[in-house]
Amino acid sequence: MPKNKRHKYERVKQLPNVIMPADGEPLSACSYPWHSDGFTGMPTVLELGCGKGEHSLAFAADDPKTVHVGVDYKSHRMCVGAEQAAAQGLENLFFLRTRVEHIRSFFLPHAIAAIWLTFPDPHIKQRKAKCRLSADPFLEIYADLLVPGGNVYLKTDSDPLFQFTRQTVRRRGGHIQLDCDNIHGSNGSLPGGGVVSAYEKAAVSQGAAIKFLAFRLD
Ligand SMILES: C[S@@+](CC[C@H](N)C(=O)[O-])C[C@H]1O[C@@H](n2cnc3c(N)ncnc32)[C@H](O)[C@@H]1O
Repeated sequence: MPKNKRHKYERVKQLPNVIMPADGEPLSACSYPWHSDGFTGMPTVLELGCGKGEHSLAFAADDPKTVHVGVDYKSHRMCVGAEQAAAQGLENLFFLRTRVEHIRSFFLPHAIAAIWLTFPDPHIKQRKAKCRLSADPFLEIYADLLVPGGNVYLKTDSDPLFQFTRQTVRRRGGHIQLDCDNIHGSNGSLPGGGVVSAYEKAAVSQGAAIKFLAFRLD
């Protein structure tokens, strides 16, 4: 591991707002902090593939009555967000280092109010289609975790991923609530509370249209 990543890995292990399950650990879902008494009755929102957690940081600051959890398997990225959350005193934001494939072990069924997919890797090659975070097995996981009526929100600059997601949602019998192929193209308010991550800024500055999909799976 390069020195900088190793340094962040060591730092992130010390942060109280980061959960890094050891291999083979998964404890009971109830043992994780978002299920503790202090958060009883509060909705929980996930950002999957959160990177530095820019969306979660903004959501948590804006909405202290909701618990936010950023999920990614790369600890050096979440280290940036977790240190910022600690510095800002955001007690309603956690970071979970795991693969999205495993998140059912960390949350109770039908307990998640909303799921955000913020610029997931498009995995353009067909042989990698199963890795897209809106592929069928992932939608199955989201359906198991969401409360009835809970939404999944996708932001992407990738047209192929956008089309793929529309197809997988429709094939599964899901309901598309909002479908916008360029959120910066109109004067209305940006879906997602107007959060614009560094990745999004860079994509827009290169002329990409940012697409947004809101859908239900029940
Ligand atoms: C293109 S980056 C986007 C990061 C961030 N959401 C943003 O908007 O800047 C995609 C992120 O998804 C994470 N990721 C991809 N597949 C994943 C998986 N199966 N489980 C957990 N994280 C994943 C990567 O580690 C990476 O940080």
